[in-house]
Amino acid sequence: MSKKIYLYGNWKMNNTFSETEKFFETFTPAYEPLKGDANLEVGIFAPFTSLWPLSQGAKKNGIVFGAQNVYYEAKGAFTGEISIPMLKEYDVTHIIIGHSERRHIFLESDEVIAKKVKAVLDAGMIPVFCYGETLEERESGNTFTVMERQLKSAIDSLTPEEVHKIIYAYEPVWAIGTGKTATPDQAEEVCAWSRKLIGDDGAVILYGGSVKGSNAKELLSMKDIDGALVGGASLKPASFLEIYTAYKG
Ligand code: 13P
Repeated sequence: MSKKIYLYGNWKMNNTFSETEKFFETFTPAYEPLKGDANLEVGIFAPFTSLWPLSQGAKKNGIVFGAQNVYYEAKGAFTGEISIPMLKEYDVTHIIIGHSERRHIFLESDEVIAKKVKAVLDAGMIPVFCYGETLEERESGNTFTVMERQLKSAIDSLTPEEVHKIIYAYEPVWAIGTGKTATPDQAEEVCAWSRKLIGDDGAVILYGGSVKGSNAKELLSMKDIDGALVGGASLKPASFLEIYTAYKG
């Protein structure tokens, strides 16, 4: 039996409320032929303000949906933040945590990210935990040291059951939005190494960084890559779903 593929789209700061409604006008018929494929799990992660139309469209199509960030406290004086109970009322089940843009542009630390991962798990939700090295870190030979720090700080205090619930996304910073994809061997090397470090053969590990139809097959065919976290190519239904159809061939 072929493996299950996770095709997750991270819209980042794109798609307004009305653009999200429009997205589903095209997505719903395009997804129809893939609906019911037990080897495919599609998920979309939208800005907070688009979560309502996303939830409606996602429920109609039976796909996973979620947010791109959350704060770890339940409520209080945290101006500008969104809490887990707020997202629960939208039936959100999955939340991206520790995306490289959160780490590098908004300076989220490993410590804050670890608290978010724990809070999401405590709420019975699934963190899509992102990690990955910058170009400078790769070129100076520090790829694995950096990732070990990022991964360990997030999972070290968790139970094996909690560690298993997390969906991991290896996203090399130099491959995000640059059109420069990691080679299948580079991505596989890190994902296989991550699986060992995580200590869970059944961990779900995605690759993210300039994934598109033209490179999907070779990346998703790698043994330790369970799917893709897609940025740019997820904004249009055709380029998003093409990633899976190209993989299936
Ligand atoms: P791109 O697919 O646009 O490179 O983005 C990857 C990413 O950051 C997904 O979270």
